[in-house]
Amino acid sequence: MEKFDFLQFYSYLSYKSNKLHVNGFSIDELSCKEETPFFLFLLNRFQQNYEKMNAEISKHIPNILISYAVKANYLGRILDAANHVGMGLEVMSLFELKLAEKAKFQANKIIFNGPAKSEKELEYAIAFGITKINVDSLSELINIEKIAKDKGIIQPITIRIHPKLTEDTEKKLLIRKNSKLGIDYSRGVKLFEYSKKSPNLNPIGIHVHVGTNLTTHDFFEELLVFLSNYITELEDKLQVNIKEINLGGGLASNSTLEANGFSFDRFGEQISNHIKEIENKLIIFEPGRYLIEDSFIALTKVIRTKKSWGRKWAFTDIGANSLIPMRYTHYKILPANNKGKDQYTNIGGPLCLPVDVLTNEAVDFIIEEKDFLAVLNCGAYTISMSEQFGYPRPAIYELTENGTLKLLKAEDKLDQMIEAEFNYRK
Ligand SMILES: Cc1ncc(COP(=O)(O)O)c(C=O)c1O
Repeated sequence: MEKFDFLQFYSYLSYKSNKLHVNGFSIDELSCKEETPFFLFLLNRFQQNYEKMNAEISKHIPNILISYAVKANYLGRILDAANHVGMGLEVMSLFELKLAEKAKFQANKIIFNGPAKSEKELEYAIAFGITKINVDSLSELINIEKIAKDKGIIQPITIRIHPKLTEDTEKKLLIRKNSKLGIDYSRGVKLFEYSKKSPNLNPIGIHVHVGTNLTTHDFFEELLVFLSNYITELEDKLQVNIKEINLGGGLASNSTLEANGFSFDRFGEQISNHIKEIENKLIIFEPGRYLIEDSFIALTKVIRTKKSWGRKWAFTDIGANSLIPMRYTHYKILPANNKGKDQYTNIGGPLCLPVDVLTNEAVDFIIEEKDFLAVLNCGAYTISMSEQFGYPRPAIYELTENGTLKLLKAEDKLDQMIEAEFNYRK
C-alpha cells in the first residue's frame, strides 16, 4: 500500500483504514457534505504556524512583529484570526489597507508595501496613521514629503532596499537585483540621506524582501551580515537611527521548512547574533506563504479518466483558475480512499488549456472516476489570485472542531456571472 512519506510533516493528516482523515475527520465524508470542488480552511494549523514562529524567535529577540502578508490570501476569517492573536498585517494597495481597517488592525501594526503606490493611496495611508510605509523610490519619497508638509506633520518612513548578495545567491532568488522591486542598496543610502535632511520625514527603518519559498539558514546568514554592516554605516555616517528592521516574507510553508530542517530557534539566534543593540529595535517579518500555504486543503472529485499516448490522465473538477500554477507552487495530491498502487497518472483540471495540470509529478495510486482527492499546500496565492475562467470560483469552508463545514465564502453564482457580462444592455 502507498505510504506517502511526506505525511509526517502534516500533523493534521492521517490514513485510518486507508481513508484519509483531516483533524480526525474523513475526507471522503467531508467531500460528500457539499458540492465539490471546495477549499477547506484549517484555522488551528494557521494559528500553530504563527505560534511556533513567534515562540521560537522570541527566545532570542525581545521585540518582534509578525505581520501576515494579506496578498497571500485575504479572506476576512484569516485577517480576523491574525488580529486576534496579535499579528500585524502587510498590505500592498488601498483595497488591502481597507481590509486591514475592516479587520480593525491598529495603524502601527500595518505595513504598506508596493513599487508604485498612488498619491491617493499614500494620502489615505498617512491620514489613517500608518507609520510603516516601505518607500520604493525617490519619486514616492518626495510625494510622501509633500503630503506630510501639507498636513504639517513629520511622517515616519522605512526604505525598501535590495541588498548586496553573492551572484550565486542572487541566482536562486525570485526577486533579483535588477527586479522592479525595492531600490539598490547604494541608491537606498541616498534616500536615507534625503529623508534625514527633510523637516517632514523621519527615516526609522529598513526593509528587505527578496523572494519566496526560502528554506535555508545560509541565505539569512548572508543577508544579516550585509544588513548589520549597512545599518552601522547608516547610523555612523548619516546619524540615521534605525529602530525597525523588516526582514520581509519569503519563508516556505511550515511543512516544507520542517522537511528541510529549518529551525526558527536557530533563525532567531542568527538575527540576534548579527543585529547590534537588538533590544532597542523592532524586528518585523511579513510571512504569507509560511502562515497560510499548508492551512488549506482543496477537495475535488475525479470527473473523467482517459489513456492517450500511453499515458493515464485523471481530470478533476478543480483547475488552474483557482489552483494557480506559479513557479513556487507544489500542490500535493492524496486519495481520500487509498486503494493501492497503479501505473503513473497525470492529473489535470477541467479547463481547455494545456497548462491546466495540477502538478508536474504524476501520482502512482489507483484513481477512478468519482473518487475524491485532497490537494495540499493550496492556501497561498490561490484564492486571492483566482479567476472566473470558464468556471465559478469554488466555495471556501472552515473545518470546525466538531467536523462541520462553516461557510466562509460562497462559490460564484453562474447566473450572476452571466448577468454581469450582459450588464451593458441595461
Ligand atoms: C513585500 C512583500 N512582503 C511579503 C510578501 C509575502 O511573501 P511570502 O508569501 O513569500 O512570505 C510579499 C509577497 O510577494 C511581498 O511582496
